[in-house]
Amino acid sequence: MCGIVGYLGKKDGIKSVLLGLKELEYRGYDSAGIAAIDIEGILIDKKVGRVSKLEKSLKKSSNKYSLAIGHTRWATHGKPTEANAHPHFNTSKNIFVVHNGIIENYQEIKDLLIKNGYKFESETDTEVVPHLIDYYYNKTNNLEKAFELTIKDLQGAYAIEMISTLSPRNIYIARLGSPLVIGNKNKEYFIASDPTAIIEQTNKVRFLEDYDIAIVSDKGLKVKNLRSNKDSKSNFELLEYVSEESSLGKFPNFMLKEIHDIPKTIETALKGRINVSKGTVKLGGLDSVIKQLEHIDRIIIIACGTSYYAGLVGEYLIEEIAGIPTEVQLASEFKYRNEPISRSTVVIAVSQSGETADTIAALKKVEEYGVLRLGVVNSIGSSIARMTDAGVYCHAGAEKAVASTKAFVAQTTVLALIALRLSKSKGLLNKKVIKELDKLPKLVEEILDSSDKIKTVANKYKNNKDFLYIGRGYNYPSALEGALKLKEISYIHAEGYAAGEMKHGPLALIDESFPTMAIATDSRLLDKVKSNIEEIKARKGPIITISTKGNRNISKLSDDNIFIPSTIEQLQPILVCVSLHLFSYYVAEGLGRDVDKPRNLAKSVTVE
Ligand code: F6R
Repeated sequence: MCGIVGYLGKKDGIKSVLLGLKELEYRGYDSAGIAAIDIEGILIDKKVGRVSKLEKSLKKSSNKYSLAIGHTRWATHGKPTEANAHPHFNTSKNIFVVHNGIIENYQEIKDLLIKNGYKFESETDTEVVPHLIDYYYNKTNNLEKAFELTIKDLQGAYAIEMISTLSPRNIYIARLGSPLVIGNKNKEYFIASDPTAIIEQTNKVRFLEDYDIAIVSDKGLKVKNLRSNKDSKSNFELLEYVSEESSLGKFPNFMLKEIHDIPKTIETALKGRINVSKGTVKLGGLDSVIKQLEHIDRIIIIACGTSYYAGLVGEYLIEEIAGIPTEVQLASEFKYRNEPISRSTVVIAVSQSGETADTIAALKKVEEYGVLRLGVVNSIGSSIARMTDAGVYCHAGAEKAVASTKAFVAQTTVLALIALRLSKSKGLLNKKVIKELDKLPKLVEEILDSSDKIKTVANKYKNNKDFLYIGRGYNYPSALEGALKLKEISYIHAEGYAAGEMKHGPLALIDESFPTMAIATDSRLLDKVKSNIEEIKARKGPIITISTKGNRNISKLSDDNIFIPSTIEQLQPILVCVSLHLFSYYVAEGLGRDVDKPRNLAKSVTVE
């Protein structure tokens, strides 16, 4: 994971790098560091903790430094300590490196360097990079060559920036499997792991591709691809950029703000895409491949985490509405499976960030099968958006809290639209789904208005050590998502189960200290869920139900109940999950957790 940034120009490089690091903090926030060079000398500062700590420390420096690189870390190799924080450097402290990714053969390189007298200060894989550059520099006396030889030796995934007093107006950059973008404005260059970190400074960008190495200098940008061994054109593109409301407004944190963004998120995801009176759906992003989509007989959805659960809802929707056999696979498993995939299969990658390493690797795996690859992505211009053949953007806006809420809702909404677009029938169900989709923003508002009730229930259960979430049909994925969100931000152990599986094992867990969140909304399977609830009650398990407003029979069955407004079962996961997100939020808030930045996690998982 980790985020890297860089600046070369004539202005305040420290300010620019800090601006970028703050935007990239979602990628990791256990330590941060910066290295900067100008005529006054070198500055290196690293702090364990958030970027704000680094910023405070840097305030002491009056110099502006017109060349700088920075890093915000999510630890992979070695604990969050100052020694392990980036930038890393060689023994002479004249080569500085920041890195996102994992150097898989670092031990081999380290052994060779140690044999050659090199000494290491950190436990990281990254530290081999500045030493190896130093090693090659001593052999070649050419920094550019030394950088290239080093990059050629590395195995794994990386986005790397290097600066050096040996060549103080250059930033050396390399990319393999980790995103990197270079921005330009007149004579200034901005480098970052993703465009959000530089978009406030410029929207003129150039994305690097795998195997690219580049040098940014006062003369401009030079890019060479190591695989083709050719110089690449340094064409910049203008990124479509909508300025986002990035402030919290009246909210105490981004998670609560983003849950409250959901009515607007759904409206935006539907805007210009549905026609309620005609009962039709238009998805411009699929127009170019619509002929191919007419001949598909299998869909594989690949995703991770919450996006995987949105994919599971999508599976139910696509199978029922479009009648196309669909399966959802965890990207981390899919990429290592040897399953037959025919050319009439479509692979849909679902990802908020568009940068998740496992999902990218899964997409790369199917490249050679020649199948159509679609994206359901939130981040515009992200790696997945660029590597897929076509797709539908979620348009949920920036999601800053680590726990995904509004993006999950947008993904589910978009998957419903894809199901409708793929459907050859224009039957009753399609019309009903479109009509109900249109009503969703108002129904979510109703849930948000009942937040106090959800907060009361959350406070009652916040000290429990375990939780079970159960649901059936469309709400089986909701149970999984509810459990993930609770464990993720409150650190309470929670498991999601298909309600029908209770008797096959999990029922053994139940006693008076083990509450169950049972999703018991009005649906074809409600009676079955009711039986599952009775079985838990018979074992003295406390029950919280999520039920459809007006259905008093369910609330009578449970210890506590949360109502959601009535909608068709196909769209219930959206309303159920908004309630479950609020429930998790209030449990975590009640426990005093850092809801936006839960421990050990990062927003964008860019390593496998
Ligand atoms: C959980 C959460 C994660 C992400 C997962 C995939 O709240 O946010 O489980 O859903 O890391 O990330 P994306 O969607 O960016 O591929």
